[in-house]
This record gives sequence, C-alpha cells and structure tokens, in this order.
Amino acid sequence: MAKNPRMAVLDFASREAKRSQYCSRAAVKLEQLLLKFPKVLSSLQKGKVVKCVDLGCHPGSWLQVLSRKIKKAEIYGFDLNEIESLESLKYVDVHRTRTFQCDVFESDELMNSLQLDKNVNLLTSDMMAKTTGQNDASASHELAVRAFELATKDLLAKDAHFVCKIFESEETRALKMEAKKAFASASLFRPDAVRKGSREIYMVGVGFKG
Ligand SMILES: C[S@@+](CC[C@H](N)C(=O)[O-])C[C@H]1O[C@@H](n2cnc3c(N)ncnc32)[C@H](O)[C@@H]1O
Repeated sequence: MAKNPRMAVLDFASREAKRSQYCSRAAVKLEQLLLKFPKVLSSLQKGKVVKCVDLGCHPGSWLQVLSRKIKKAEIYGFDLNEIESLESLKYVDVHRTRTFQCDVFESDELMNSLQLDKNVNLLTSDMMAKTTGQNDASASHELAVRAFELATKDLLAKDAHFVCKIFESEETRALKMEAKKAFASASLFRPDAVRKGSREIYMVGVGFKG
C-alpha cells in the first residue's frame, strides 16, 4: 500500500508536482517539454542573464520551473489573475521575477514600458480561456495567435525560443506553418502530463530567425 493514501489517488503529474512542491501539475508539462527540446535550456544556461516572458502565468508553476532551471533568468509573468504571494512559490526569486495582472490583448503599453522589445530569449504561453465545452479550440487558437504575434513581431531576440499551448484544431496546422518560417525548427508535442482525452498540445519553436 502507498505510504501516503492521498498521494495514491493522484495521477503521475500531480504526484510529481507535489513532490517538487510546484503549485500546479502544469509544471510537469513544461518540465517534459524542456526535456524533449534540450536546446531550449542549454542555450539559456550559458551564464549570461536572459529574459523570459510567461503568458498566462497564474498560479505560477511555470514561473517555478523557469526559476529553477534557468539560474540567470529575469522572468516577467502576465495573467488576467493576480499572483498574490510570489514569495510563497518555491524556487521563485522575487528579485528577478515580476508579475503583472493584465489581458494580453491589451498589454502593448505595459510591455513597451518594460523594454522587452526584441530582448526576450524565451516566451512561454500556457494561456487558456475558461473552458465551456463550446468554442474552446477557437478561443485557444486566438490566444496562441496572440502569443505568436507578440513573440515574433515584438518580443523575441534572435535565436530565442517559443513554447505555446494550443487546443488542437484545423487551424493548428496553419500556425505551425507560420512557426516553421519564423524558427529554425518548429514542432508540436504532447507531453505525457497532458490529461488523456485532452486536445491540448504544445507548439515549440527553437531558434527564432529574427
Ligand atoms: C492553465 S492556466 C496557466 C497555468 C500556469 N502555466 C501555471 O503553471 O501555473 C491558464 C491561464 O491563462 C490565463 N489567461 C487566459 N486568457 C488570458 C488573457 N487574455 N490574458 C492573460 N492571461 C490569460 C488564465 O487567467 C489562466 O490563469
């Protein structure tokens, strides 16, 4: 019998998240993505300070993973919801992490003021609108397109990387074609931590052509 009966009923990703003291099982998806595409981390761990933007950062588990894996990252998180207690998130260094409550469709002025333009080395987006069972894929596609445009038109520096959640739909292929033009390589990958039956998939662009 499992030592802790509560842990026994959790799925693998939830157990892993608990074990690493992440605030959400979503962390395990990012860890699996970073393992699958090792060039992303290796290029960001070379000792120089790098900038990361995390769209849809609440409650903060991707901020935890980024802080844990990239020691010299300055991290900027954006979400409709406020993260009230950044200090309570294990691994997050409050001196190099800032979060902002905003809608990414209305974030241009804020991002300009942060001087992130063409300066970001990794943009992650795990954004998802509240699922209703209707139009979820098209809501997700709009968020992914916004993340892609922010990344490729405004924020990414040359050779930077892009990781973005999408609900797979007919429109996903067109976005992947765009990503193939913008990055040295672009792939779709579904980490094991994605729940069975979910349409969630992640687009990973490695090496922004600038
Ligand atoms: C699945 S959660 C992200 C979980 C997060 N990656 C973590 O690890 O803790 C999706 C988030 O996307 C955010 N979101 C959805 N639409 C957004 C928008 N237009 N602007 C900013 N954030 C948005 C939601 O508020 C929600 O917190």
